[in-house]
Amino acid sequence: MRHFLDIHTTSPKELRRIIDTGRAIKEARKGKPKGALDQETPLKDHVVALIFEKPSTRTRVSFDVGVRQMGGSTMVLSGADMQLGHGETIADTARVLSRYVDLIMMRTFEEDTLLEMAEHATVPVINGLTNRTHPCQIMADILTFEEHNGPIRGKKVVWSGDGNNVFASFAHAAKQFEFDLVFTGPPPLDPEGSLDGLYSIVRDPHEAVEGADLVVTDTWVSMHDPQSARERRHNQLRGYQVNRALMDSAKPDALFMHCLPAHRDDEATSEVMDGPNSVIFDEAENRLHAQKAVMKWCLES
Ligand code: CP
Ligand code: NVA
Repeated sequence: MRHFLDIHTTSPKELRRIIDTGRAIKEARKGKPKGALDQETPLKDHVVALIFEKPSTRTRVSFDVGVRQMGGSTMVLSGADMQLGHGETIADTARVLSRYVDLIMMRTFEEDTLLEMAEHATVPVINGLTNRTHPCQIMADILTFEEHNGPIRGKKVVWSGDGNNVFASFAHAAKQFEFDLVFTGPPPLDPEGSLDGLYSIVRDPHEAVEGADLVVTDTWVSMHDPQSARERRHNQLRGYQVNRALMDSAKPDALFMHCLPAHRDDEATSEVMDGPNSVIFDEAENRLHAQKAVMKWCLES
């Protein structure tokens, strides 16, 4: 049984296998209606629990549709409506759910909640975002990069903005997929020091993006950040907005990514988001294909 908890805890060989499988799964469904079954249905007779303790559009819908296309059925659960939100332990919840379902995907706040779920579950557990990481997103991003610009190994990726959970998974991926990752942002919003990833810091955003093959950003205030930090963060991050001038400092064919949801004209301008270098909706689509590969991998042993 395999959990998919993080990119740095999954080997480069397995990660590569998941990306290549995601690509093949995508290819094999070309032209089919969204509700049609895949040719291979590894989730036939399987039930998947999708637990959300935070809001979601992409993760919720892409997992739900992905499970159905692979022949399984889903149960979307809100943490607040479960006994989990009313004092039942995570360990007991994990043991109980494992008696009913074949796979658990969880989006939660503290990383420890996810790790405890995985420790006590007897079915695979998938990380659908915590305050610390978002590995499924980055698997979709690698798939997207490679579809457009070929192998990511040796390429230069620049993150402009907050050193948050999505950045952390990029830093893990930089180590496992061997690309060069540069963080540019204000010191108070630097990534946490204990990250088991690889990146360098360049404070000047224009200098940072020179020669970049990919420029990435994310919201300036994440779901786990206090709303009271909003104004301060906007002031700290304004100079790191991804706009046309910043994209002009990157390679002419550099891609622009954002995991979405975006606050248009804050962290990135609409001109960039809707411009020729943007692949944001391919990224969103690829959540579906990459996660189907993740689920397939989890159930293989
Ligand atoms: N990118 C992402 O995880 O989006 P949702 O919050 O809509 O799931
Ligand atoms: N950093 C964002 C990502 C949302 C998909 C958050 O955690 O809110």
